[in-house]
Amino acid sequence: MRVALIGYGNVGKAFARLLQVKQSTFPFRIVAIHTARHGTAYDSNGLGLAPPWGPAAASVEAFLDEAQPEVAIEITTLNPESGEPAIAHIRSAFARNIHVITANKGPIAHAYSSLNAEARRRQVEFRFESTVMDGTPIFSNVRNNLPGVKILGFRGVLNSTSKVVLGALQRGLTLEEGIREAQRMGVAEADPWYDIDGWDSAAKAAALANVLMQAQTNPQEVERRGLRDIDPQEPARLARAGKTIQLVSSAEYTNGSVRLQVSPEILPNTDLLASVAGTSNLLLLYTDLMGTIGTLSIDPGVEQTAYGLFSDLVDIARSV
Ligand SMILES: NC(=O)c1ccc[n+]([C@@H]2O[C@H](COP(=O)([O-])OP(=O)(O)OC[C@H]3O[C@@H](n4cnc5c(N)ncnc54)[C@H](OP(=O)(O)O)[C@@H]3O)[C@@H](O)[C@H]2O)c1
Repeated sequence: MRVALIGYGNVGKAFARLLQVKQSTFPFRIVAIHTARHGTAYDSNGLGLAPPWGPAAASVEAFLDEAQPEVAIEITTLNPESGEPAIAHIRSAFARNIHVITANKGPIAHAYSSLNAEARRRQVEFRFESTVMDGTPIFSNVRNNLPGVKILGFRGVLNSTSKVVLGALQRGLTLEEGIREAQRMGVAEADPWYDIDGWDSAAKAAALANVLMQAQTNPQEVERRGLRDIDPQEPARLARAGKTIQLVSSAEYTNGSVRLQVSPEILPNTDLLASVAGTSNLLLLYTDLMGTIGTLSIDPGVEQTAYGLFSDLVDIARSV
């Protein structure tokens, strides 16, 4: 299958490495890569890990017209406020009847319903497993393994940076020291305040609600409080009392619509959401037929994000 990448940063490179490792059993070919500053590369026989960059294509449309891929993978930088230009990139691919995979949560948090409708109209596939919990199966699990199940709500600890920062506060360090620790570990967003103020958690909550609960929402509509809303001394005080604070993303139906919240919550250490150590993430789905289902990803990294793209690609290859 011919694959084009829009974006070739940490995720794109990890994905290209993964395809090389699995080449003998999964013969996918990256035939083109487009970036913002590095330029554009094409080779219909397949590009290596260090593509020979040429001049940048004039536009994503021109890139796709030249590359003629079957699948486009959108992995450009996240714009949390609007989801652009990734939304436009995805629409350009659909307009050319190209299947799309993305790890960029912007489009799913801001425009899932219209993008999904567009994909259906064009009879192309649209996958986004890596947008929440770094490739751990959430969306495909519900789609493939839970037929007829209604998702009634969820609670999750979905942002690794806030976990690291709260851990630092618990040990008596400052917010800034916690942020530096998360940056050293490589888990913080380019702008760490986006994690600290709950925007990343809000974008993930909106994405989950849009896909799993048919909400038509966006991150701005999430009731949001972040770590700047707590007393920095409180995590250390609570630790002495056997309690912890976690930045929890949650959803529930109220009066027929989906209410989304991101908030630092005080939890007893025995609460499942409090018990997940390190940078690990946990999501609990509340369902009508299957009770509560929990998914845990232990210290996920970029290799798992790349795997989410890979699993989406295999799924598309099997379904067309
Ligand atoms: N890193 C993770 O573990 C992780 C986990 C889950 C989801 N994600 C999501 O995956 C996406 C990629 O993450 P990353 O860590 O790979 O980011 P990154 O290292 O910053 O790379 C972003 C890539 O996008 C390119 N780009 C930016 N704007 C573009 C535009 N308008 N047109 C074409 N290319 C453009 C950049 O080009 P240049 O190289 O020329 O600058 C770069 O190659 C993001 O949306 C992120 O939120 C990442």
